[in-house]
Amino acid sequence: MKNYIQAEEWNIIEEGFDPHLNKISESIFSIGNGRMGQRANFEETYSGESLQGNYVAGVYYPDKTRVGWWKNGYPEYFAKVLNAAEWMGLEIKLEGEILDLASAKVSSFKRVLNMQEGYLTRTFTAELPSGNQVEVSSKRFFSIANDEVAALKYELTPLNFSGKLELTSFIDGDVKNQDSNYDEKFWDEVSREQNASGSYLTMRTKKTAFDVTTGVKTLVLVNGTDTALSPDTEIRDKYLSESVTADIKANETVVVYKIATNLSSQNYEAADLVQTAVKVIDTAVAQGFDSLLIEQAEAWATKWQEGDIIIEGDVAAQQAIRFNIFQLNQTYTGKDARLNIGPKGFTGEKYGGSTYWDTEAYCIPFYLSTAPEEVSKNLLIYRYKHLEKAIENAEKLGFNNGAALYPMVTMNGEECHNEWEITFEEIHRNGAIAFAIFNYIRYTGDQSYLAQYGLEVLVGIARFWKQRVNWSEDKKQFVMLGVTGPNEYENNINNNWYTNTLAAWCLSYAVEAAGIVKNEDASKYQQIIEKTKLNEVEEFGAWTNIAANIYLPYDAEKGVFLQQDGYLDKEQILVKDLPASDRPLNQKWSWDRILRSCFIKQADVLQGMYFFEDDYDLESLRRNFDFYESRTVHESSLSPCVHSILAAKLNDGERAYEFYLRTSRLDLDDYNNDTEDGLHITSMAGTWMSIVEGFGGMRVREGKLLFNPFLPEQWTSFSFNIGFRGVQLRIKVDKDTMTIVTDSKESLDINIFNESYVVAAGETVINYKGLAV
Ligand code: BGC
Repeated sequence: MKNYIQAEEWNIIEEGFDPHLNKISESIFSIGNGRMGQRANFEETYSGESLQGNYVAGVYYPDKTRVGWWKNGYPEYFAKVLNAAEWMGLEIKLEGEILDLASAKVSSFKRVLNMQEGYLTRTFTAELPSGNQVEVSSKRFFSIANDEVAALKYELTPLNFSGKLELTSFIDGDVKNQDSNYDEKFWDEVSREQNASGSYLTMRTKKTAFDVTTGVKTLVLVNGTDTALSPDTEIRDKYLSESVTADIKANETVVVYKIATNLSSQNYEAADLVQTAVKVIDTAVAQGFDSLLIEQAEAWATKWQEGDIIIEGDVAAQQAIRFNIFQLNQTYTGKDARLNIGPKGFTGEKYGGSTYWDTEAYCIPFYLSTAPEEVSKNLLIYRYKHLEKAIENAEKLGFNNGAALYPMVTMNGEECHNEWEITFEEIHRNGAIAFAIFNYIRYTGDQSYLAQYGLEVLVGIARFWKQRVNWSEDKKQFVMLGVTGPNEYENNINNNWYTNTLAAWCLSYAVEAAGIVKNEDASKYQQIIEKTKLNEVEEFGAWTNIAANIYLPYDAEKGVFLQQDGYLDKEQILVKDLPASDRPLNQKWSWDRILRSCFIKQADVLQGMYFFEDDYDLESLRRNFDFYESRTVHESSLSPCVHSILAAKLNDGERAYEFYLRTSRLDLDDYNNDTEDGLHITSMAGTWMSIVEGFGGMRVREGKLLFNPFLPEQWTSFSFNIGFRGVQLRIKVDKDTMTIVTDSKESLDINIFNESYVVAAGETVINYKGLAV
C-alpha cells in the first residue's frame, strides 16, 4: 500500500518526483474519453521506467495463444487491447542537451488530474546536467464533447540561460505491447503524410486490419509569435515529425500546442480516414485549445450533474469516489454499442480483451443510475449481438441445440481466455449475463427488452445449464462438476454453491421471461420459438425440474452455504492469522499452496447472496458473511465492494466503511501492489455501488425505489445523483434526515425504511428515525 497521493475533493495530486512511483502514477493520472485514451506518460523524452500506453477503443489484435500444453477447445488467440501511435511526443533539446527527467535534477514536480473539468496538468523545474534550468507546465485532455479530439498545451521557460531550442514534435507508430506473446509488433504502416493541416500517420493492425489514422497539428509560439515548423528530413518507418529551431531567452515562455485525432476504420471508410482526420484537425485548430477546454469543462459538468456523489466530512473518501466515477466515465460513454468496458480501460494492457463478466455484474448498475437508459441497454445489446458466437463457443466444447456459453474474455464474441480452469470452467459468467437482463428490466421497467433481445439470450443460456449439469444417482439431485467459481483460488471444484444457485435461477428466469413475452407480444414470441427451435413443453419442463432439484451444498451445523463440495475439509485458517509478509498471497505463495488453502480471492457465496438477497434472511446472511469474510483476502478488486454492501446491510458500519475505503482507494493507494499495470476500472463501478446500495441502501423492488440509508460515522453527510425512469433525483443522507430533491414534474413513490413517501417536484425533506449507525 502507498500513500503519496494528496487528498483533495476534485483533484488527484502528486507532488515531488519519485521515479519508482512513475508507472503507478502513469496509471492513476490516465485520461480518456470513451473513444480513446492514454496513460499519463510524459510528453518529452523519458528514459526512465515507464509503460507507454495510447489506446483506441475497439481496435485489437488477436495474439496467437501461448500455452505450455495445448488443450482441445482452447481459443486460437488472445485479443489484445493495442498500444497505438503516440501522438503527444516532443523531443526538446536545449543548447544541445535533451530534456529528460531521468537525467535531470527535478524540483517542484506536480501532477494534477482535474476531475471536475477533465484535464491533466504537470509542472516541474528541471536542472539539466549542464546546470541549465527550465520550468515546464503541460496541460492535456481528451475531449468528451468531441470524442475524436485530444489536445495538449506545453509551456517551457528557460530560467537561467538563453540559447538554442531544438524542438521536434512527433507521432510515433513504432510501438509495441508489453504483453505481446511472441514479442511481435502489431502494426504495419499504411501511409505518412504532411501538409498545412499537420502530420497524418496511418497504421494498420496485422491480421485484424483495422486502419487508424493519427493526425496532429503542432503550433509553436516563441515570444508569442507562431513559428514555422519544417517537416523532418529523417525518414523513419512508422514515424512522422516536424521540427523547429529557435533562439530562446531566459524567462520567456515557449508555448507548444498539439491538437490531435485518432480515427479508425471501424467508423470511417479506410480510404477516407486521412481526409476526415484533416477536417477534424482543421475544425479543432480553428476552435482553439482554450475553447476546446471550456467545452470539455461544460461536458464534464453535465456528467457530474448526472452522477456525482458528495461526501462531507471525509476528503479522502470524497476524492476517491469522484476518482472512480471520473475513470468510469472516461472509459465508457455508451455512445457505441460495439464497445465495452475493459477491466483496465485506457490505462494499461493487462487483461487483454475488453469484456468480462465484470460489465454485467458490476458496471450495469452504475450506468443504469447515472446515464441515459440507452447506455446500459447498449451494453446488453452488445451481448445479444454476440449470441451466435456464444453458441459457436459452446459447440466447440461439445454442447448442442443452441446452448450458448458466453466467453470469459472477449472483443468480438469469441473466447480469448486460454487457461482451461477459467475458459472451460469459470462458467458462472453466463449467469451474470442473464442477471444483467433481469437487473436492467427491474430498474428501467423496459419489459419490451425481453421480446426484442433478451429472451433469445436467456434461452441459449438456459440450454447451456441444462446440458452442463448431470443427475447424480448418489445424491438424487442435479450436480455441476468441474467448475471454477468467482473465487479463482479454487479450480475444478464440484458444486460451487454460487454457480449452482445462479444456474437454477437462470433456468427459472428463462421460463418466466418466455411467459412474459408470450403474454405481451404473442407474434414476436412465435418468431423466437421458430428461430430458436424451442420445444416449449420439453425444454421448459426440463429447466423447471433442474431448477427445483439442483444440489446446493450447505453445512447445517454452521448454518452456512458451502462454497463447494469439501470446502470444510480444508485446513480452516483465518485471514487475520496470516502474517502480513505473506500478502498478497498471489505474489508471495506458490499457486499450489493457494489452491490447497481455504483462502478466498473474492466474493463467491457472498456474491450469490448479494444478487439474490431477497431469498435469504438477515441471520443467514450474517452467518455466511462472518464465515466467508474472515477467509477472504480480496485479491480481486471486485471483492471489497460486495463485502461493503453486505456489511452495510448487516448494520456493520465499521466494516462497511473499511471495505468502502479499500475499494474506493484501491488504485489511489495501490492496495494490491499492481496499480502500475493499469487501473481497476470495472471494480470502480462496485465502489459506486458501495455508496448507493451500501450506505444509501437503495434497491428497486416492484418498480419502486427503496432506501435503507445509514451514515458512516466518519461522514457528516453524503449525497448521490441518480436517474430513475426519466426522473432525476438528488438524494442526501445526513445525521437525521434524508432529503430527496427532484425537478421532475412527475411525482415518484418511494420507500424509506418500509414507509411509503411521495417525492413531488421541488424539495422533499423526509425525517426518519432508526438510522443504523
Ligand atoms: C477476477 C475476475 C475478473 C477479472 C477481470 C480477475 O482477477 O478474479 O473475476 O473478471 O479479474 O477484472
